[in-house]
Amino acid sequence: MNKEPIIELNNIKREFIVGEETVHALRGVSFSIYEGEFVTIMGTSGSGKSTLLNLLGCLDTPTSGEYLLDGVKVRDMEKAERAVLRNRKIGFVFQSYNLLPKTTAIENVELPLMYNPGVSAAKRKEKAIQALIKVGLGDRLQHKSNQMSGGQMQRVAIARALVNDPVIILADEATGNLDTRTSFEILVLFQELHKAGRTIIFVTHNPEIAQFCSRNIILRDGHVVEDRINEKVLSAKEALDALPIEKE
Ligand SMILES: Nc1ncnc2c1ncn2[C@@H]1O[C@H](COP(=O)(O)OP(=O)(O)OP(=O)(O)O)[C@@H](O)[C@H]1O
Ligand SMILES: [Mg+2]
Repeated sequence: MNKEPIIELNNIKREFIVGEETVHALRGVSFSIYEGEFVTIMGTSGSGKSTLLNLLGCLDTPTSGEYLLDGVKVRDMEKAERAVLRNRKIGFVFQSYNLLPKTTAIENVELPLMYNPGVSAAKRKEKAIQALIKVGLGDRLQHKSNQMSGGQMQRVAIARALVNDPVIILADEATGNLDTRTSFEILVLFQELHKAGRTIIFVTHNPEIAQFCSRNIILRDGHVVEDRINEKVLSAKEALDALPIEKE
């Protein structure tokens, strides 16, 4: 494994002021994530998972503490610089897919490339098609968001996260809205991406998912209370094959 951490957090705190009250969403979080890790972040509702993921994805900035992304201090970056970094290095997958409605799979996946003037329209389309084929949607290229199942929409979202060839993929409850079988199908896809060398950080409520990842971090009340390497990573493909055929 690569020795340089791709993510380094040092005593990260995030407070939100709501009226008279201060919410301590993160109370001093420190850890490093290395290239090629597949990390789950778990914890009860309100423990700070999404807050942490937003910070990791440069969608938000900490109240205090240091975040180094690929060795660069995120705090020192200009806003525009941060946006470019986010666009090029990080792919996001959300529970609610966040696809544009009434828009085709190709168009949704092309979106992150729009901000990259170095990519021509033809190249954009080509890359979007390749990403969609990679997630198994080669036969749904022209389908609009409202013409697809939840699992298919999540695949489009994953293709969109992949299209810029990011170093890190951040997922917040990516399987939260999906039935068991579809969740496993998505998990198989994440394991394949991981095998291909991606660093993945996967927020979930489902403790079962931790068995398929290489490391598990648990938050409670804004603190890391557990950080464990999983020596025996299970195969999502095998788990999927073992599921009863009948759809729920
Ligand atoms: N923008 C905000 N303004 C004020 N408080 C916030 C904001 N975002 C989050 N919080 C608070 O910070 C805490 C952590 O929220 P966060 O969304 O990170 O939890 P979570 O672990 O993702 O929960 P869930 O599992 O329900 O998604 C909560 O108490 C929440 O109310
Ligand atoms: Mg959340």
